[in-house]
Amino acid sequence: MSKATFSSNGYSADAAIAFARSRPNTYLSELYDFLRIPSVSTRPEHVDDIKAAADWLAANMETAGLENIRIFPTTGHPLVYSDWLHAGDDKPTVLFYGHYDVQPADDLDLWKTPPFEPQVRKDNIYARGASDDKGQLLMLVKAVEALLRANGALPVNVKFIVEGEEESGGHGLKDFIPEHVDRLSADIAFISDTSMATWDQPAIVYGLRGMCSVNIDVVGPKLDVHSGVYGGGINNPINALVHILSQLIDADGHILIPGFYDDVLPLEAEERERINAFPFDEEAWLQRILVTESWGVPEYTTLERTGARPTLDVNGIIGGYTGDGAKTIIPSKAHAKVSMRLVPNQNPHDILKKITQYIETLTPAGVQVKLTPMGASPASIMDYHIPAMKAAEAACRAVFGRNPVYAREGGSIPIAGQIKRDLGIETILLGFGLPHDRIHAPNERFYLPNYYRGIETIIHFLVNYAGINARRPVAG
Ligand code: BES
Ligand code: MN
Ligand code: MN
Repeated sequence: MSKATFSSNGYSADAAIAFARSRPNTYLSELYDFLRIPSVSTRPEHVDDIKAAADWLAANMETAGLENIRIFPTTGHPLVYSDWLHAGDDKPTVLFYGHYDVQPADDLDLWKTPPFEPQVRKDNIYARGASDDKGQLLMLVKAVEALLRANGALPVNVKFIVEGEEESGGHGLKDFIPEHVDRLSADIAFISDTSMATWDQPAIVYGLRGMCSVNIDVVGPKLDVHSGVYGGGINNPINALVHILSQLIDADGHILIPGFYDDVLPLEAEERERINAFPFDEEAWLQRILVTESWGVPEYTTLERTGARPTLDVNGIIGGYTGDGAKTIIPSKAHAKVSMRLVPNQNPHDILKKITQYIETLTPAGVQVKLTPMGASPASIMDYHIPAMKAAEAACRAVFGRNPVYAREGGSIPIAGQIKRDLGIETILLGFGLPHDRIHAPNERFYLPNYYRGIETIIHFLVNYAGINARRPVAG
């Protein structure tokens, strides 16, 4: 084991790492327990499980030595807060964020082992939420626990705010942050809910896409009717829906909503270079999902299109008769879910307005179209030239033997942008998932060696960060 690099306050990463290394089985069995709770936030039948997950996490934080543990009810699912604030006023404060909710597990038939009965196979733990985000969230708590148990104190002050509706676009945390700015005030936020470049190449994500999503309901006759009797005489909601959807995007992926690209900033040459330097094996990326060729707007590379350009996707479509044989009807209704990934400087509310107006102009006669907004969150972009990032870089070097790469990712963490706006701080997005963890898909998994390495990296980060004069100037 290497000598402690930080000893100015008697803190040593070494002691905490030795402590963490002495408890691999405890850390694994705690992860099992957390993953067994089916905390699916979108489904009302899981409200008790959501509560159970919040309670479990609060109890685990208490065992870790965190203090002031509180479960805040919201209009949606509860928030879990805790802190440890005895490092001293001259030490910076880290705000950890994570989410204890998970995506629905269906299609259940496609899971090799049930989604809420975790199983380890060849160094991976398989379960819904293993990588997104329970495994990664627990690493944060375990790192704090190891430091507290080994040293009796933390090198910095820490706060945790953990939500239970990240996956369902809930408003709980969104409303909570501006009302609790003092409670959440910190010098830097830290999130582990993204992935590494490869199993041995850590990545700091400095940009995430935003999101604007809508449900489209098309209503025609009050009941399904005979397509011979009515066909040609009334409009068909599915035909109308398909007509609308087909004009949202062209065959190459250009979005056709008027004004959609107005606020999209051009990608500078330097940025394009950095994005395309990311270690990315496109063949393997496609092969893993049995797709033979990539697709998307021809002006940009796959990495640019998935990380730094906006997109539009139909996520679901339903309507009419889909059973065996034929059924000659004009259906009464049709529905689709559409979401758009947004990039910095696009305003999700403005995009919502634009798609609403456009769909009005596309709506043919004889049907009613109802648009329901399902979520709107802006993209985020971080300043990675700040000292805290250097502390994270050094932590990566200490554990993985190399610097992290900086990447923009295509996924969304709605709260990341809001932390910057409402709390005025940057976020370090240092995650330990892998690109092929199958998040949101059947057989989600988490590579266990990186669960342990991640804990060690976070320990190093906290110790390194204490050595940086990162305290924000106190007013007055
Ligand atoms: N952890 C993911 C976001 C993510 C995934 C970031 C991969 C970077 C790489 C997060 O839990 C997520 O899935 N977010 C949703 C947000 C949506 C439901 C508002 C998303 O991106 O679809
Ligand atoms: Mn997540
Ligand atoms: Mn997710």
